[in-house]
Amino acid sequence: MDLKQREEFSNNIVVILAMAGSAIGLGNIWRFPYMTGEYGGAAFIVVYILACFFIALPIFFAETIIGRRGRSDTFGSIKKLAPGSRWHHLGLLTIITPIVVLSYYSVVGGWSIHYFFRSFGPLFSLPAAGSFSEFISSAEAPILSHSIFIILVAAVVLAGIRKGIEKFNKLTMPMLFVLILVIVVYSFTLPGAMKGVEYLVNPDFSKITPDVVAAALGQAFFSLSLGVGTVLTYASYMRKRDNILVLGLGTAGFDLFFALLAGFAVMPAVFAAGISPAAGPGVVFETLPFVFSKMGGAAIWLTVTISAIFFLSVLFAALTSAISMMEVGVAYLVEEKGMKRSRAVIAISIFAWIVGMLCSLSFGPLAGVQLFGNSIFDFLDKLCSNWMMPLGGLLFTLFVGWKMPPAEVLDEFSNGGKKKLNAAMYPAVRFLLRYVAPVGIVVIFATAILG
Ligand code: PFF
Repeated sequence: MDLKQREEFSNNIVVILAMAGSAIGLGNIWRFPYMTGEYGGAAFIVVYILACFFIALPIFFAETIIGRRGRSDTFGSIKKLAPGSRWHHLGLLTIITPIVVLSYYSVVGGWSIHYFFRSFGPLFSLPAAGSFSEFISSAEAPILSHSIFIILVAAVVLAGIRKGIEKFNKLTMPMLFVLILVIVVYSFTLPGAMKGVEYLVNPDFSKITPDVVAAALGQAFFSLSLGVGTVLTYASYMRKRDNILVLGLGTAGFDLFFALLAGFAVMPAVFAAGISPAAGPGVVFETLPFVFSKMGGAAIWLTVTISAIFFLSVLFAALTSAISMMEVGVAYLVEEKGMKRSRAVIAISIFAWIVGMLCSLSFGPLAGVQLFGNSIFDFLDKLCSNWMMPLGGLLFTLFVGWKMPPAEVLDEFSNGGKKKLNAAMYPAVRFLLRYVAPVGIVVIFATAILG
């Protein structure tokens, strides 16, 4: 595609919002709180923060450098930067992964639509404890909400970069922040909430094991949408004069901030209700509606409002992330295969819809279908987050750290030397890119294989 025809994000703030929109999602609101619960609370958070800044952030820079310099989709960018080499095949790997993630992510995104409606208690019956497993194992309702979710994602991606993705992120990201803040305040007012707060701020370093480190690394990958070309693709729509260092720090900072906010929204409520913090993936969807329904007391309107607000924020967060997953494949089909944007959106939506349906059914009618000892949903989740995403990240960091000429990397990172701070930081970033990040990823792999 001709470079001049490519759309661009309007400015640096918008790029940060879109990147943060991709990063902040179910990974922060749904996965981070239960991972923290399972892996030891505050100690996990400390390791997670280190992983974010020393391993995830350099990979974020690597993807941004490739995307903005290549100014194309994942495949095309790498082809441009390393003509004649085989590195662009890596681009293909990272195009398939986000579409697969989109399939099962949309199922969980759909749950938030369902729970949003169920929040309106008397009208739709407040979910009782145990009803979560009943809901996900049924066939129709989860598939219906999964379908609605995919349609919403497709509608935004269809509208394009400025009119669709940029506008939607601008509208929903600030709203999401306000919504979660409301929940945090509400959570803090519950009797017994302070135990949950303590759990999040008092680290017990004896709890740090190799498993905890691997889990924290994996969570950092998932949360920053790394290794799947979303960062790369969004960066290709960035203006040349925008600042990669500011973008990276801004996105990682926002992402971390939202994860912590979600932790502070969820944990105090969990402790207030006397539930185990390690209750697993069901925490948000099962525990919270139950907690809300108990805590509202006489004021049913309060329960309904808080619950509805919460699931609406989960939905917004999930949508902005899913949009970024779909855009990777759409950019590829449009730019490499010459497809019309609308056709590309439809093709990917149909694929994700069908695979997503299988994932959804794997909680009920298809529960018997096992792939390597996992249900279809779990298999795809583990395949993508534990293997494909870190593998993509490893290849991106090796490409920028070892394949691209250092002068070219510096040029892109510092906008041709114009950003003095970026240039000064470059040696440190390069060290992280060449050594620290690849070793970190190999640790994830080794722990997964040996564990
Ligand atoms: N970062 C998203 C989250 O935390 O929910 C998940 C995600 C987005 C994964 C985009 C993969 C992706 F391509």
